[in-house]
Amino acid sequence: MKPRILIVDDDERNVILLSEKLSRDGFEIDTASNGIEALEKVKPVAPDLILLDVMMPKMDGYEALRRLKSNEETRHIPVIMLTGRTEVEDKVMGFEVGAEDYIIKPFSLREVSARVKSFLRMRLLQTRLVETEKMAALGEMVDGIAHEIRNPLTAIGGMARRVRDHEQDEQYKAYAQQIINSVERLERMLMRIDEYKRILVSVLEKGDIDRVILASVKAVKDLAESKEIVIKTNLMTDPPPVNMDFGNLKIALFNILQNSVEAIAKKGEITVDTLLADGRTMIVRITDNGVGIPEDEIRKIFNPFQTSKFEGAGLGLTISYRIIHDHGGDIEVKSSKGKGTVVTIRLKPAEAPQAKVSEA
Ligand SMILES: Nc1ncnc2c1ncn2[C@@H]1O[C@H](COP(=O)(O)OP(=O)(O)OP(=O)(O)O)[C@@H](O)[C@H]1O
Ligand SMILES: [Mg+2]
Repeated sequence: MKPRILIVDDDERNVILLSEKLSRDGFEIDTASNGIEALEKVKPVAPDLILLDVMMPKMDGYEALRRLKSNEETRHIPVIMLTGRTEVEDKVMGFEVGAEDYIIKPFSLREVSARVKSFLRMRLLQTRLVETEKMAALGEMVDGIAHEIRNPLTAIGGMARRVRDHEQDEQYKAYAQQIINSVERLERMLMRIDEYKRILVSVLEKGDIDRVILASVKAVKDLAESKEIVIKTNLMTDPPPVNMDFGNLKIALFNILQNSVEAIAKKGEITVDTLLADGRTMIVRITDNGVGIPEDEIRKIFNPFQTSKFEGAGLGLTISYRIIHDHGGDIEVKSSKGKGTVVTIRLKPAEAPQAKVSEA
């Protein structure tokens, strides 16, 4: 999705020039000609950044900024002030009210574009860092809980099995079986947590993508055959080598294929394609004609413990996401409920430099 910029300026020529330059540079643009209009537009537009002129009729930039920053719903949106006055007090005033940065008029369009890009890139890195820290803290907590519940769970499972095997009353036998089913579900979850913990940092070296794909397809083959699901592979000829950790990437692809198999009740088709984008990025696409994912669920499926299955721990895609990002790649899911799901993985060619943020 393109980042959205709201340009607020009463000078029409400025607005046109900025809009043209920034949309050429890949941004989605909305405009307003004064503070009041900006405040009206900010909620429906939900911009990723606002370029705000200071001197405007009706409501000037400072007042608009003050209102934006005192509203809970809009205070997080970064604002870069466009100021014609170079006096220090003005800049100080902008920062005091909460502007993230300022650009002095007259400015060059290239400078504005570069400042916007670098600001958004910094924001993205900050968000990622916070996410990573949050995940690490969550990981430690989950690990601690998993450790604490393992022994009591074994005891509950063991006792419930005894009750089930010795109880004469069918009703109570069934109750004991229900306890056992739930215990087994929790035990599977603990196994997945262990698996997540055991994933080592990916050590990348040149590797053959076909070999990983075929190994992961083989690993899921029995499960697929038991449900009469055909897995087709459409692999490009002579794929270039890819930076990879064979074992980890195999786990990542296996988890995705396993989801596809689980999404098909019986008799279906899964296709694995490979192709090159921009002549260099390796794309692995896994398509199934299973149940699909409801639109409002898609954004959550990489979260830990997000599952729609009784048998699931909701960690498969969390693991795949982590591995693919450790490879400097990315993963995207498109799905249509009732029709099927397409998972697209992008991986770097072997000679490319490592982990670089490329967005916006
Ligand atoms: N190909 C797919 N088709 C339909 N739904 C999917 C597909 N892939 C993922 N999902 C949805 O995303 C959820 C999360 O997937 P994930 O692999 O992380 O967990 P899980 O499969 O539920 O459990 P686990 O993989 O830990 O056993 C699934 O429960 C399912 O609802
Ligand atoms: Mg899964």
